Amino acid sequence: MPEEDVGRIYGDVGVGQFKVALTTPVERGEYIVVEDDTHHRVLCQLSQLERKSDPGAERTLEHIAPGNGIHLADALFGKANVVGFRENGIVAVPQLPFKPGTEVHRADESLIADVMGLRENGKTGAYVGLLRGHSLRVELDINQLVQRHLSVLAKTGGGKSYLVGVLLEEFMKHDVTCIIIDPHGEYGSLRFKSDKMRNAERYGVEARGFRDKILEFSPDTTLNRDAKPLTFSLRNLDARELLTFMGSTNVRGYVAPLKGIIEAAAQANAEYTLKDLIRIAHARAAEDGNPTFESLAEKLEYLEETKLLAPVGTSLHELVVQGKMTIVNLRGVAPDVQELVVTRILSTFFEQRKRGKIPPLFLVIEEAHNFCPQQGQAMSSRILKTVASEGRKFGLGLCIVSQRPARVDKNVLSQCATQLILQVTNPLDVRAIAQSIEGLTDGMTDMIQGLPVGTCLVSGAGFHTPLFCDVRTRASRHGGESVNVIPT
Ligand SMILES: Nc1ncnc2c1ncn2[C@@H]1O[C@H](COP(=O)(O)OP(=O)(O)O)[C@@H](O)[C@H]1O
Ligand SMILES: [Mg+2]
Repeated sequence: MPEEDVGRIYGDVGVGQFKVALTTPVERGEYIVVEDDTHHRVLCQLSQLERKSDPGAERTLEHIAPGNGIHLADALFGKANVVGFRENGIVAVPQLPFKPGTEVHRADESLIADVMGLRENGKTGAYVGLLRGHSLRVELDINQLVQRHLSVLAKTGGGKSYLVGVLLEEFMKHDVTCIIIDPHGEYGSLRFKSDKMRNAERYGVEARGFRDKILEFSPDTTLNRDAKPLTFSLRNLDARELLTFMGSTNVRGYVAPLKGIIEAAAQANAEYTLKDLIRIAHARAAEDGNPTFESLAEKLEYLEETKLLAPVGTSLHELVVQGKMTIVNLRGVAPDVQELVVTRILSTFFEQRKRGKIPPLFLVIEEAHNFCPQQGQAMSSRILKTVASEGRKFGLGLCIVSQRPARVDKNVLSQCATQLILQVTNPLDVRAIAQSIEGLTDGMTDMIQGLPVGTCLVSGAGFHTPLFCDVRTRASRHGGESVNVIPT
């Protein structure tokens, strides 16, 4: 074996797990290789490290591997997991434990790439970064991402939006139609070249803005000046929906009176406007003195000011354009109106996609815990569950982004076959993640809690076992920079 000799196997050896005494420091998470009884070079991964003070360990080592030069004071002791070896294209694992005393070597990149399934996917690959500490590209197959959904999870400040930006850059490069629900107005910055690239050479990334690829819409164009107005057709809304647009959570007493107003307006003029509804509400208030009508008139006047409704709303074909990315900027929009916007947009996409009226597309939902919470109900919960479970059939891919995985509807999260996990520390969230990822070892769960910003765990996406990836630098500007109270 040409690879660097780093230590010996010792102690009790299991089929999938074993202990290594390291003569050369190797980082946790790093790949090592061990030859088994049948001369297969088996890829393994170091998952835990410790230093020992038990002299028994040194004596045992001297016994099983005499003259190995391991001294307790210098040695590191690690636990490692078997990943496997590739034979006839399939990853297999040895049926017997390795022998204590067997040499452990650092794995070379070709072996890692081969066993892990790190391929350059050419036309369909989204390049998200490099295998941690290596120069192997981590590419996610875009077709698979869209067909099998994706989640991006980490605590606040963990680097979710940055990573989603990387993904969106790749999707734009590949002319994938994308829609992003952007509650903080962070993604418009993808138009501009990055002025803060990090290790651009290592990642092989050149600064680039995506101005020509981006469309942006917002219900509030006073605050979000780069966006075109996102409006909804008044005449497509029933009384209940209209009340939600007015921010009425307590709709009970209002539904029937508003329904009456809409019917009257529609009878008088099929092309009624909000002004007509306001006029009728005032007239009815004057007629029968019921305060509900006065209150409705006020709400409708407020609604008119929001400019959320128009006689003819934004058309679907303005919103979804083949090969472009559409940002739905919800900055400054009240939470219940955000839910409503998401519900209406997603429902329309789903229906129109079923009929093939819009191209296959990739939908990113930032702050997903607000739109499909595990506890309680958001108006948008139902359509999100539908898209999560049925979207793939119709070429509607979903990316769920959240800082509180434990608070995202499990039905939605469990549909995401690929997971990109950055640092997570909240124990409930760690548990939610550990339960949802196949092949996650205890060592990896520990590592998730201590990941540096910019490193993510990739699970699924056609890789044999979860792997750690240094997220590549952005070509375009990141819009979610943390803001200092005191300038540095
Ligand atoms: N891969 C990365 N490389 C460099 N800086 C990063 C990376 N990921 C995140 N950051 C920085 O960390 C901060 C938080 O990242 P962000 O993506 O906005 O977090 P989140 O969306 O999870 O709250 C930002 O200031 C960003 O510049
Ligand atoms: Mg963010």
